[in-house]
Amino acid sequence: MRVLVTGAAGFIGSNYVRTLLQGGYPGYEDARVTVLDKLSYAGRRDNLPASHPRLEFVQGDICDLPLVTEVADGHDAVLHFAAESHVDRSVDSAAEFIRTNVGGTQTLLDACVERGVERVVHVSTDEVYGSIAQGSWTEEWPLAPNSPYAASKAASDLVARSYWRTHGVDLSITRCSNNYGPHQHPEKLIPLFVTNLLRGEQVPLYGDGRNVREWLHVDDHCRAIQLVLTKGQAGETYNVGGGNELTNVDITRRILELCGADWSMVHRVADRKGHDLRYALDDSKIRDQLGYEPLVPFEQGLADTVAWYRDTPSWWQHVTQERAVHAGTALYQEN
Ligand code: NAD
Ligand code: DAU
Repeated sequence: MRVLVTGAAGFIGSNYVRTLLQGGYPGYEDARVTVLDKLSYAGRRDNLPASHPRLEFVQGDICDLPLVTEVADGHDAVLHFAAESHVDRSVDSAAEFIRTNVGGTQTLLDACVERGVERVVHVSTDEVYGSIAQGSWTEEWPLAPNSPYAASKAASDLVARSYWRTHGVDLSITRCSNNYGPHQHPEKLIPLFVTNLLRGEQVPLYGDGRNVREWLHVDDHCRAIQLVLTKGQAGETYNVGGGNELTNVDITRRILELCGADWSMVHRVADRKGHDLRYALDDSKIRDQLGYEPLVPFEQGLADTVAWYRDTPSWWQHVTQERAVHAGTALYQEN
């Protein structure tokens, strides 16, 4: 079994590959893994083992058709994580999101068709559905993305679906809620707030902080992806939810407590443009059909995540320094 994993120098893809190489997915203990990653600002080679007998790392762009076609050759399955993933950056500048998330997905799938890859999982997001005030989205819900990031993911989902329908690619799509865990870039809420507090700095809370997100530990997301890879049906989409709905004020309070800080460390800043109020997934399909259930209790997962950032400053200190260097073009503004 040979598996090609795109974007696995980033947060979620690297978690998937580390778990796979550690023998964490039954039946895949001998699988050989090729990682294709551009090493954008969000990708780090040191998120993966420096060397491993079953790991090959290729630095490259998923938009580069000759390269991707060559790399895809001989693989049984492709797990497609590579993307521009941060909403605020897409508000700032959308072009790279369309290029990588839409064009890159199309290019990767062309390579899969050309090389006869047998199975593809396209990793997507709940943000494609837009924002929901009450209730929760099933997979049948219309797509109504609000940010350029979400729009680029929705477009890539439709491209992926079309390669199943048109070219007969055995392909499934996952749509997951907000992930948290170690190795997440400190541009995202949880690692940003934790690393700011660890450095004694305030945390920037957007708007009134009443936006709701549904949090899932990255280990649970990756287990769900593996379930979809092995048991999912071609042409089907699977929501992957966590069930831990929290307002941003609530999660901020929990992070403050875990970091031994209080509300005086919160700095209210202007709201994100087009800020989605609430995400909530109905994930009964993957639970009922594939036997998925999240295993990491939220309180434990969050405490472990804070502990990981506290114990691993070498991983994030240079990233936050880079952010300080670019402070003139900060992605958030003060009120
Ligand atoms: P990330 O930003 O941490 O990692 C993205 C990786 O993709 C990086 O290693 C980067 O170098 C690589 N990459 C970017 N552009 C590339 C290109 N053109 N060619 C090759 N590699 C490229 O993202 P993440 O949080 O790990 O998200 C992974 C996937 O999961 C994305 O598709 C995202 O939309 C989806 N997702 C994320 C979340 C979340 O909460 N983080 C939730 C649901 C779905
Ligand atoms: O829902 C899945 C999505 O979750 C993924 O598809 C995205 O890749 C991932 O980045 C994430 O998107 P969000 O926009 O929900 O995550 P983010 O961590 O950027 O923000 C979470 C919430 O916190 C959101 O309501 C905005 C708010 N926020 C964020 C930052 C970075 C703040 O209040 N202050 C901040 O500084």
